Amino acid sequence: MDELIRTTEKALNVKKREDMHIVIVGHVDHGKSTVIGRLLADNNMLPEGKIEQIKEKCRRNSKPFEYAFLLDALKDEQSQGITIDTARTFFTTEKRNYIILDAPGHVEFLKNMVTGAARAEAALMVVDANEGVMENSKRHGYLLSMLGVKQIAVLINKMDAVGYSKERFDDIKTEYGAFLESIGITASSFIPVSGMQGDNIVNSGAKNMPWYCGVTVMDQLEAFDSKGDNSRLPLRIPVQGVYKFTGNNDDRRIIAGTVETGVLNVGDEITFYPSGKTTVAKTIEMYNADVQTSAEAGSATGFTMSQQIYAMRGDIAVKSNEPQPKVSNGIIANVFWLGKEPLVKGKSYTVKLGTAKVKARIESVNKVLDASTLNNIQKSEIARNEVGECNISFERQIAFDIVDENPITSRFVLIDDYEICGGGIVTAEKAIGGGNITRDDALITRDERVLASKQRGHVLWLTGLSGSGKSTISGALERVLNSMGYSCYRLDGDNLRFGLNKDCDFTDRGRDENLRRAAEVARLFADAGLITICTFISPKGEQRANARACVGELGFSQVYVKASVEECARRDPKGLYKKAFEGSIKGFTGVDSPYDEPVDADIVIDTEETSVDGAVDMLLNYLSDNGIIY
Ligand code: ADX
Repeated sequence: MDELIRTTEKALNVKKREDMHIVIVGHVDHGKSTVIGRLLADNNMLPEGKIEQIKEKCRRNSKPFEYAFLLDALKDEQSQGITIDTARTFFTTEKRNYIILDAPGHVEFLKNMVTGAARAEAALMVVDANEGVMENSKRHGYLLSMLGVKQIAVLINKMDAVGYSKERFDDIKTEYGAFLESIGITASSFIPVSGMQGDNIVNSGAKNMPWYCGVTVMDQLEAFDSKGDNSRLPLRIPVQGVYKFTGNNDDRRIIAGTVETGVLNVGDEITFYPSGKTTVAKTIEMYNADVQTSAEAGSATGFTMSQQIYAMRGDIAVKSNEPQPKVSNGIIANVFWLGKEPLVKGKSYTVKLGTAKVKARIESVNKVLDASTLNNIQKSEIARNEVGECNISFERQIAFDIVDENPITSRFVLIDDYEICGGGIVTAEKAIGGGNITRDDALITRDERVLASKQRGHVLWLTGLSGSGKSTISGALERVLNSMGYSCYRLDGDNLRFGLNKDCDFTDRGRDENLRRAAEVARLFADAGLITICTFISPKGEQRANARACVGELGFSQVYVKASVEECARRDPKGLYKKAFEGSIKGFTGVDSPYDEPVDADIVIDTEETSVDGAVDMLLNYLSDNGIIY
């Protein structure tokens, strides 16, 4: 639960009650706000005189009063236990704290639910008695079932507008009930309500609907089971980042991330996936909080380890003695598609699942559900607003859960061109390769090599002045990568010039040739699957561009190791700047030969501000973010 609500709770001195997140969904005009307004009003949660104040305002503007206006009026109001911001209303009863999440549209709803910004243990689905079940109501139903929200109450609203007709209520109940059943949802209740008149929201509607003897909305809310409580599931912490303590000689690292499910305790043995490395949680570090020994689901947390192992963004930290997540390079998933262009077989997207971000390919579209007829259609694409099942492969293995085992860490979004274009739920793992693809055994594809070694060949090209720190950083990075089990190799200006390139001088031509050969060799190493760390001054933009072009699609990243000439001359590890200033070396880069600062670097490391460890962390994060190591 977030800061705003905590503050309100604190201010009100509310005793710790359980939280219940309810999502309210429905077609735009079907009366969601009115229902929420009524819930607040009839629970006597409103500040004194608030309704009168709004009624008066409506009178002055000759508008009929609506409970929906209450919500607008109450935004930013933090009295009497209500907190309202753009999409959430918070109120409290004897039993628990309710957080009502309003989902303005499909995209927001999906984004919030899939990224975990919002979670809901139950849903209120509002259907207009006049209009009946619309395609949108069905889509919302799909979404809820996809997202694993199992407790749903259907509010058939605006009963006053259909003369409180039992027949109308029964018709909708039958139609929508059958639909929900068909997608695996049994509604907890169907409630005939009038948000406007207040029937069956908090108070009974018996006067107008004597034929109904079921629950009110409030009864239903209180009856929902909060078992959705994520703390009871196995521990899952998608790693957001790994940070170092800043103190001198303090080499502890904090693994930071949100406890999505389960509970983390100091002393727990923790395994990271996909790597499978284990350690023990030593301390829990929370920003701005007292020392803690455990962290529950929902808390943004960090922990230190008893044994320093390298974990990275995209990993999932779990308890070693609880059910483990799946690790695979492929899944079968239900996808709700929102993209303008249809989702098609063979197309590549980015999948964001937890904190992992990975390139993905649609291997097949297995079936598509038609929202109006509910039939499965055999199609090779999923159009906007359709739900379909497809097989998706990833460029590398990632860790995740299956929806039946953990609804949170099985959710993902599909991204195309920086935009969320769909949401999905993993229903099964499906490894690509490994037996279920026929292939020539003698031929090892690059992808297979990548899968076997958990790394992708790549060229990290460090450019910068002599003395800027290229060799120091590359040496430290190599040591860390080796200790993590990755294979890498360093190509260094000084070294290559002893052998392969000993005929190259420091003229423009000599450097061009030196760097041309260096790039060719780097390309071969990267092709062999090594992370190849190159450290060459490479003073000209053109030389660096040529190196990038030479390595091509294998993967090339330019790292600008930045330090001023003055600073490099001060460091002068080889005494060369001194000689260059004295004139005994000619054409020395930065002194009497130019260095073009890169304008297109993938990473800039300013070594006047960043420590060697800091530089290594930056590079490790970069490598893992880009799927080069995992
Ligand atoms: S590059 O310009 O062709 O990329 P490279 O990185 O291979 O240069 O070699 C640079 C190293 O050679 C420097 O770190 C330094 O030790 C040495 N060196 C000798 N003469 C020069 C010079 N004139 N300019 C720069 N570096 C030089």
